[in-house]
Formats: sequence, structure tokens, C-alpha cells
Amino acid sequence: MTQPEARTPVLSTGRLRLTTWLPGDYADLCALHSDPLVMRYLRSGVEGAGETRARLDRFRREQVELGWTKWRLADVDGRMVGRAGFNLTADGQHRELGYVLTPRLWGLGLATEIAGALVRWHREHPEPPPAPRAARLRVRRQRREPARAGEGRLRPRR
Ligand SMILES: CC(C)(COP(=O)(O)OP(=O)(O)OC[C@H]1O[C@@H](n2cnc3c(N)ncnc32)[C@H](O)[C@@H]1OP(=O)(O)O)[C@@H](O)C(=O)NCCC(=O)NCCS
Repeated sequence: MTQPEARTPVLSTGRLRLTTWLPGDYADLCALHSDPLVMRYLRSGVEGAGETRARLDRFRREQVELGWTKWRLADVDGRMVGRAGFNLTADGQHRELGYVLTPRLWGLGLATEIAGALVRWHREHPEPPPAPRAARLRVRRQRREPARAGEGRLRPRR
């Protein structure tokens, strides 16, 4: 019999737990990414259901392909309180730190707490060699940026 998928712990701080995602996290992620207050300064803006579904799929795919992503952020009781981790920079060469917290927990120093832990994680897990051109192209497609001359001939990985 196949075992149900379990979350993989990434790191813990005094008040926070960072883990991989499960498909069942979709509703919690939707609540976060459809909140205009949360999304006000984020490039993607308020998301619809399909966009958040694609986002969750991407987080899960990046975990498999890269070994890191924007992970699920929970409190000590396991309730989701946000997301935090890394995405690829536009040139596909480096990690970029990002975090989003549910508004009821703003102003308590949690972003500071998780950012410090992620910087330590980053230092303990050196970045892999530069991503292949196909991965860079995929990043541009996600961000709707134009590909450089020649890159359009590549078939990005799915
Ligand atoms: C930005 C965000 C993560 C901050 O979370 P938080 O847990 O409230 O932050 P902290 O309590 O750790 O505060 C960290 C510092 O940022 C400052 N800060 C927090 N929110 C701020 C805001 N909206 N404007 C200006 N400064 C802010 C705090 O005063 C604090 O500064 P200090 O250390 O000098 O006192 C949270 O407001 C959020 O999720 N916003 C929506 C998503 C977003 O914009 N994410 C950032 C882009 S990746």
C-alpha cells in the first residue's frame, strides 16, 4: 500500500516551522494570495484560483527539481501562517529571498525571524551551478518576460 505523502521539514525557529507543501494546502494558499492587503505590493497582484493552483504546482515542482522553493510557513501547532523561501532571480543564477505572512501576525517580528533562518539555510546549502538555459527561459515564461534572441528555440522543462 502506498503511504500518504508527508511534509518534509526544512527548518524551525522558536515560533515557526518551514516545510514542503502538500496538494491539500491549496485552500490555505488561496486565502493568502487572494487577500488584497497581502498582495498589495507583490508583482503578481491578487490571484485567482487558477493562478494559485499553478503557484502551488510550481512550488512542488521546484522542490523536486531544485531542492528549494518558497516553502509552507506554519506556527508551532502546524497552522499555515504564510510562505517563505527562495525563487530564482530573473537571470536564473541565484536565489532570491521572499516571504509573505498572514496579516493577523504582522508586526510581531516573524518576518525578521524567518528571514534570518533562511539566510543561515542559504549559507549552509551553497547554490548549485548556474541553471541551464532552459531553466532561465522557464523563469521568464513564468514572469511573462521576453526571451533573449535564440532562447525561444529551446524547449523548457515542464
Ligand atoms: C512584509 C511582511 C512580511 C513583514 O512581516 P512582519 O512579521 O510584520 O515583519 P517584522 O515584524 O519582522 O518587521 C520587520 C521590520 O520591517 C518593518 N516593517 C514591517 N512591515 C512594514 C511595512 N508595511 N512598511 C514598513 N516597514 C515595515 C518593521 O517595522 C520591522 O522593522 P524594525 O526591525 O526596524 O522594527 C508582512 O507585512 C507581509 O507579509 N506583507 C505582505 C507581503 C509582502 O509584502 N512581502 C514582502 C515581499 S517578499
